Amino acid sequence: MPLDLTFVRSQFPAFASMDNNEQSFFENAGGSFACSQTIDALTAYYTDTKVQPYSEFGSSARAGNQMDRSRERWAEALGVATDEVVFGPSTSMNTYVLAEAFGSLLGAGDEVIVTNQDHEANTGAVRRMADRVGATVKEWRTDPDTGLLDIDQFASLLSPATKLVTMPHASNIVGQENDVAKITGLAHGVGARVIVDGVSFAPHSIPDVAALDADVYLFSLYKTYSVHQGLMVVRNGLLDELPNQAHFFNAGYPDKRLSPAGPDHAQVACAGAVLDYVELLHVAHGGSEGDALRVACANVSSLWREQEDSLTPQLLDALSGRDNVRLLGPASLDAVSGHRCPTIAFLTLEQEPAVVASSLVQRGVQTSASDYYAVRVLDGLGVDVDRGVVRLSFVHYTGQTDIDRALNALDDVLG
Ligand SMILES: Cc1ncc(COP(=O)(O)O)c(C=O)c1O
Repeated sequence: MPLDLTFVRSQFPAFASMDNNEQSFFENAGGSFACSQTIDALTAYYTDTKVQPYSEFGSSARAGNQMDRSRERWAEALGVATDEVVFGPSTSMNTYVLAEAFGSLLGAGDEVIVTNQDHEANTGAVRRMADRVGATVKEWRTDPDTGLLDIDQFASLLSPATKLVTMPHASNIVGQENDVAKITGLAHGVGARVIVDGVSFAPHSIPDVAALDADVYLFSLYKTYSVHQGLMVVRNGLLDELPNQAHFFNAGYPDKRLSPAGPDHAQVACAGAVLDYVELLHVAHGGSEGDALRVACANVSSLWREQEDSLTPQLLDALSGRDNVRLLGPASLDAVSGHRCPTIAFLTLEQEPAVVASSLVQRGVQTSASDYYAVRVLDGLGVDVDRGVVRLSFVHYTGQTDIDRALNALDDVLG
């Protein structure tokens, strides 16, 4: 059964606004629209339970219960234990805190592998930490033509001294989906821990984190139809191994050890509401109400991917077939997986990317030109980072009408 797009779009109030009826949103990798379940939960929280949580009085107890429930629901969705789920203000803050914590464990003689395919959030703090403690940083570099990472090259960088690997599940520029399970297997073979940035992957498929076996898996809920929070799963005993980063008396609380800031109660409490949307979609597409949340997530992820994969090749063909454009990343869906993240960046060779982005916006295609904080991958591809690239990123609620609008605008602007 294909994804019912009319039903999907009815769950996103943003589509009712004038702007989004007459224009098409292609900046999803920057932040997605929120589903009505998220918006309603926030309104209800601020109306009914905007008090300090976890006291005995009604509104406070309800607030605390809702926060706990968010963690439990996300743990179920991702296939991990509740104690392994940590919320933080953003993925960048979560990686910063993680890097601080790893800094106490690493030192001279240890090696850290980072990639140049990452968004800066997933390597900057780790690179700085390694420099500070005297650990060696090895860079797993992308191919200068394709921007892709090669696993054989990764294997050649591993050594018994490798203690930590950071990598993206999917790139926010070239849309490559890396084989995380294979990479974690190799890294664990030498005893290294692996941090995976799933920010560009999770909006397209709710990851089975247990199957990937990453020690840390991070993503940003505000790009996944939910609230502005970072979610971080810390597994395989690592949470206890890393030194506490919170107040000393909070060391025994798994949800607090890596959250030095006081949590945003409302956002944490409402973070799970998007999973009600996922369950609703599951049931609307033939699933049973009694199915486990992980089952619903897997089914809905397949529906999302099918919808995206039916549209992605149209944009890839339109861009790769032009002489005046350099498409970054794969020009087709992956031959084996049949997927490619619909995060499609390109360099315009005759016009400034900023001018092209602005011309597309004038034609109702909501996009931008930027380095998207992925300066190292752009640099590796030989792109002038100051000029940036244009990016068209979409998700499962994007329809053929949106793609047609983008294709017409590209014809008009690029010739
Ligand atoms: C791939 C990727 N990783 C990490 C981040 C940082 O996430 P946050 O904004 O939650 O700090 C972003 C943000 O755009 C991103 O695209």
